[in-house]
Amino acid sequence: MEQILRPAFMSCYLKITLNYLIFNHANQKQGRQQTALANAVYAAAMHIDNLEEILDQVKLISHKHRSLGITPKQYPIVGENLIAAIKDVLCGADSDEIIDAWTEAYQIIANVFIQTEADLYRKSEKQSGGWKGFREFIVDRKVKESGVITSFYLKPKMEMRLPLLNPVNILV
Ligand code: HEM
Repeated sequence: MEQILRPAFMSCYLKITLNYLIFNHANQKQGRQQTALANAVYAAAMHIDNLEEILDQVKLISHKHRSLGITPKQYPIVGENLIAAIKDVLCGADSDEIIDAWTEAYQIIANVFIQTEADLYRKSEKQSGGWKGFREFIVDRKVKESGVITSFYLKPKMEMRLPLLNPVNILV
């Protein structure tokens, strides 16, 4: 099964045409976003009976999603496009069973992401200095550290307490 699905699934990358403002357009143009999504769904599907095994990867992706404010409502839209892309690639009359299996698998995977992200949103709001949604920051200082590295020091536009940063925090 893996040998049949993998090539079909790989060909889906270019066919997933999501055009949200939140997507990094350079990554989309180069197909990186579609590849990352397809690879992650594929890897999750291969561990569908024991998603605990890939929880660390799910958490990393969820941190990225949380930083972008991805919501549960957006999952079905991504799912529809993904399934449409798989259908397009398979385009065989006998593919109903495969499509049903991928639809079910996507739902299970999406639920794991939605739950993990809900937990992250809750934690970030409840932590000391935390908040929900987006806050505006301004660049306070820019320091050229080397020929290829520049540090940007940000401070909140409105006076407020800030939570402690940890290495998985992502700025958008
Ligand atoms: C089960 C479903 C999903 C999976 C497996 C998935 C997987 C991924 C992966 C692997 C990345 C790259 C992470 C990184 O660069 O560190 C990513 C990034 C991203 N995802 Fe998802 N995703 C899913 C659903 C969604 C949904 C519903 C949205 C909302 C429209 C979304 C929007 C994004 C965006 C905007 C990025 C960053 C893209 C960029 O900066 O180039 N994802 N996702």
